[in-house]
Amino acid sequence: MSNPQTTRFGSNSGQSFTRRDGIAKVTGAATFAADNHPEGLLYAVYVPATIARGRVAALETAAAKAHPGVVEVMTPANRPALAGDPDSKNFMFAFRFEALQDDTVRYANQPIALVLGESLEAATEGARLVQARYEALPARVGLEGAEAYKLEIAPFGRPGETVFGDIAAGHAAAAVAVDVSYETPAQYHNPMETHAVVAAWDGDHLTLDMPNQAIVMARAVYGYYFGIPAENILIRSPYLGGGFGSKAIANGPQVLAILAARMMRRPVKLMLQRGQMFGPVGHRGATRQQLRIGSDAQGGLCVLDHASLATTSSFDDFVESAANASQGIYASPALRSTLSGVRVDIGTPGPMRAPGEASGSAALECAMDELAEKLGMDPLAFRLRNYAETEPGTGKPYSSKALRECYAQGAAAFGWDARPLAARQMVDDNGLLVGWGMGTALFGAPMFAAKARAVLRPDGSGLVETAAADMGQGAWTALAQIAADSLGLPLARVEFRSGSSDLPDGGVAGGSGHTATAGSALHAAGLDAIRRLSELATADPASPLFGAGNAGVVARDGRLYVRGDEARSESYAEIIARAGGAEVEGAGSGARSPEAAEAHAMYAHGAVFAEVKIDPVLYQMRVTRLVGAFAAGRIINPKLAESQLMGGMIWGTSFALQEEALFDPRTGRVMNGDFAGYHIPVNADVMRLQVITVHEDDPHVNPLGIKGVGEIGITGTVGAIGNAIWHATGQRIRRFPIRIEDLLRGA
Ligand code: MOS
Repeated sequence: MSNPQTTRFGSNSGQSFTRRDGIAKVTGAATFAADNHPEGLLYAVYVPATIARGRVAALETAAAKAHPGVVEVMTPANRPALAGDPDSKNFMFAFRFEALQDDTVRYANQPIALVLGESLEAATEGARLVQARYEALPARVGLEGAEAYKLEIAPFGRPGETVFGDIAAGHAAAAVAVDVSYETPAQYHNPMETHAVVAAWDGDHLTLDMPNQAIVMARAVYGYYFGIPAENILIRSPYLGGGFGSKAIANGPQVLAILAARMMRRPVKLMLQRGQMFGPVGHRGATRQQLRIGSDAQGGLCVLDHASLATTSSFDDFVESAANASQGIYASPALRSTLSGVRVDIGTPGPMRAPGEASGSAALECAMDELAEKLGMDPLAFRLRNYAETEPGTGKPYSSKALRECYAQGAAAFGWDARPLAARQMVDDNGLLVGWGMGTALFGAPMFAAKARAVLRPDGSGLVETAAADMGQGAWTALAQIAADSLGLPLARVEFRSGSSDLPDGGVAGGSGHTATAGSALHAAGLDAIRRLSELATADPASPLFGAGNAGVVARDGRLYVRGDEARSESYAEIIARAGGAEVEGAGSGARSPEAAEAHAMYAHGAVFAEVKIDPVLYQMRVTRLVGAFAAGRIINPKLAESQLMGGMIWGTSFALQEEALFDPRTGRVMNGDFAGYHIPVNADVMRLQVITVHEDDPHVNPLGIKGVGEIGITGTVGAIGNAIWHATGQRIRRFPIRIEDLLRGA
């Protein structure tokens, strides 16, 4: 992919540019999906099921229809047919969903009707006036809600069970062992912007303003449901107010709004109410994890045996694949990850930031700490003794691995050396119990597939295009930096077009692989444009570059230079003008090289250190300090990358101490489906946070050496906080989030 004939001059990558879309976002100039108001717009509000299991025996819509401003109520009785079956799964990342196909209720908050009004107020009131009579069955909730089953295939095509080595022999050989069970809660995606869509039909052409993490792929998905070619669909998603995995897949409410627009022959807007986020658009399922870890007397692992059970829906298969978090970090001659599910009456879980790894590493890192305690070893020394030099099980070498540096730099910045080994040894000036804990962070470094186009314009400026998604992570900025470097231009001279499905496919903003994938495509496209420009110059007798040959050309700051003879140079504009003034276009794609993937295991690594302070009487807990050191390949924009890592660590704090969806066992409904009851950290919960990015050159992941930073920050953090709470109090709380009452009970 890299072009040996030209030299890239990287003046933009590595700089902490501020988000290019930041001012538009904070001043309100950025148009999010629901900010669009096409002529003739109707407002849609869906009616959520108030039971979790059963059927809608009768639906009374007369009062709603009679309400001023309400124009229609869509129910299973009058809903037009969909071309595609919402219960089918015939494309990648397909999930079953409810779009009024029948009267069955499979979870609370499932759409059972859609009210359309001339105003949001009319549609909202109309939705309140729809009366449903249910035949309810007892709701199955939680990990005990039904019988467990073993997964054949786990999410993302991985096997339901992964085994390396002799597990029984590993257990038998262990001199010291732990056998512990940890629980993690159900969590719901709550981006600032709830799911929205403005759908407008023009014959069999469809325009969708909707936040989406993979707009070109989504076009094909909606094409399937509505029986039109993907090319007939334009999805505009310039800004997303967060996504976290939930905006990567099709869901019932958005499909219903599109269907309603076709039925009514008018544009329709739907935006989920906050409480409606708790059901139809995915979540992270609850888990119970059994960890059986054994070591020899010196602390060398003999066996790492991790089994996880997770809640999923009655109608689809996605589980939080927590046990897989034990693959990839620690060297053990026997290694097993087993995934099970339990089908209960909830909306289907889906990918949620660090899906599997977040829950799995929470339990793994705490269980590792428990074993270190039994061995009388410092938890960091225990990790240093056991972290893998090659990928556990497969034996593949890592493409790069700077975990030792992460441990060292994180520990030094934190002051880990001063940590007493035993629990409940430290008290601060105010009498608060102080505890220090740590955890290893790990996340894969995948790439997907993306395309890009790069243009050098007659005025010497650049234009690049790829249908990438900026969920707030700063993709518009980091990707533009990569593009500017590949074009040999300063960032300000490059226009970056993105967020529209008529652009080259930028792939999915997910799996922490967006910068690597779309960035590689942009890099290749830019180099391709420069190569074509070089050909024009070096073949033109009137150019100072004539005869230099491509091998000797350097692109920098809008000029091409002869390498080694920089007195010979010419601006892009001059070259293009003499060649007739037509813009010069390049194309490129980004994907993992199959040979590299075969030869190397690819991960980002890190280490997180936490300090907690706990009131010895009331057991109020504060995370007073977090230090995370991460090696994630080349950092394109330190400010944005640190912000992503910080965001992950804050989510880790949330996971450890706050976030949890609570189900009412009588109704199967989420009891805290709002920001009053569903706790997430506010500024006062986040005290001193330090992110260290550890230098790492990875020559194998992609030509640019980019891994990802979106998800790894959660991993490691949850366990570090749990371990710090043990260190402060001497109590092992094996259920997240850790609550005051858990500590009071043990006191
Ligand atoms: Mo994500 S859970 O990779 O969008």
